[in-house]
Amino acid sequence: MPALLSAPVPLRAVLGTQWGDEGKGKVVDLLGENVDIVARYQGGANAGHTVEFDGDKFILHLIPTGILRPHIHCVLGNGMVIHPDSFLKEVAVLEKKGLEVLSRLHISPGAHLILDYHQQLEKCCEESAGDERIGTTGRGIGPAYADKASRVGIRVGDLFHERILKTRVRENTVIKNRWFKSVYQQNEVSEQSILNALQSFRDRIGPCVDDTTWFLHQSLQSGKNILIESAQGTLLDIDFGTYPFVTSSNTTLGGMATGLGFGIRKLNQVVGVVKAYTTRVGNGPFPTELIDDTGERLRKTGEEYGATTGRPRRCGWFDALVARYSVMLNGIDSLAVTKMDVLDDLDEIPVCIAYRIHGREVTRFPADVNLLPDVEPVYEILPGWKRSLLGITKWNQLPHPARRYLKRIEELTGATIGLVSVGPSRKATIWVE
Ligand code: IMP
Repeated sequence: MPALLSAPVPLRAVLGTQWGDEGKGKVVDLLGENVDIVARYQGGANAGHTVEFDGDKFILHLIPTGILRPHIHCVLGNGMVIHPDSFLKEVAVLEKKGLEVLSRLHISPGAHLILDYHQQLEKCCEESAGDERIGTTGRGIGPAYADKASRVGIRVGDLFHERILKTRVRENTVIKNRWFKSVYQQNEVSEQSILNALQSFRDRIGPCVDDTTWFLHQSLQSGKNILIESAQGTLLDIDFGTYPFVTSSNTTLGGMATGLGFGIRKLNQVVGVVKAYTTRVGNGPFPTELIDDTGERLRKTGEEYGATTGRPRRCGWFDALVARYSVMLNGIDSLAVTKMDVLDDLDEIPVCIAYRIHGREVTRFPADVNLLPDVEPVYEILPGWKRSLLGITKWNQLPHPARRYLKRIEELTGATIGLVSVGPSRKATIWVE
């Protein structure tokens, strides 16, 4: 029996079970009440975690949402990719709201830096790919992780070794400028201006750079509670997602082990955040997508526009194959169901329980994702509840059809629901006891 979501546990991970934008920001913020540290293990400013409280709305891209609670320390793990300007802008916004930020941040020297040339390269690649483009957030994520894998990336720790930094910047600018000049006919980047920018970034973040793996392990040993926050969603994982329409990191639980330096056996609880329907931004297969008025209605009611890019999100019905696959991959024992209120007005709510692929019905998400564009979803139709869920804070106050819908999600995914969100604010939450 998994621990209740409202109960504190030493080490808990929260991750997205669909294509991102499941509402992890709110869930991490709620669970943050009982934790001392929030850590992120992958991705960069491609994420957009929205949190609303006290009438204020915060969208965080790089810094873990835990920063909004003044007692929490936040970790940016070695698995992350950090764009200096985006980071400093985010710090400035938070400081303007009166929050003390830098003294509570711990940045791994192993985290990679995203430089402007990564963003420029990504723009060139996406433009030249035409219809085949991924539809990225344009934050330079892919090229930065590509440099990491090619072992030419520049890491936070390199900022503190002048000779190493100069050599790495020189080697990178030479190679990147060859691409810009010969392949993409673009302006070249200046080695000196990159160095200047990196040096001033170093002076600003110096005190935050820390042995984050040691810090986390020591904190756990001394009785602190840690929450690990994933960005994006399981179906955007570079290995298990809908490749190539994925992000460039492991969004799934394994990424936590390599992106922070924790053995996954240390975890006490894995929480999967699942939207009551499905959305996706960017290109790639999406079996339950609704390209009609109902899709448009979900987008409007759910305010489904990208928190990072403002792009309209593609909307569709809940896909049990996707959610069950995520529960299995991540070892999820508790689900946080978000945006139930968006379904308030519907007469009937279809739930995808199988895929028909080339005439054959399957109930397992296919390992061969190249089959996905040919999938025809098989739906089970559940009755809607036709009333507002706003103001409901207890499970047994939920209308019967809403409980039935949630129970069906539990049956189909094999995981227990620990909380249900019925609105963006902290108060609009049902803790399932
Ligand atoms: P990248 O991560 O910017 O390289 O984008 C790769 C794919 O992941 C694109 O389809 C993006 O729209 C998607 N993506 C990246 N970050 C997020 C996110 O935080 N939420 C939803 N989709 C995302």
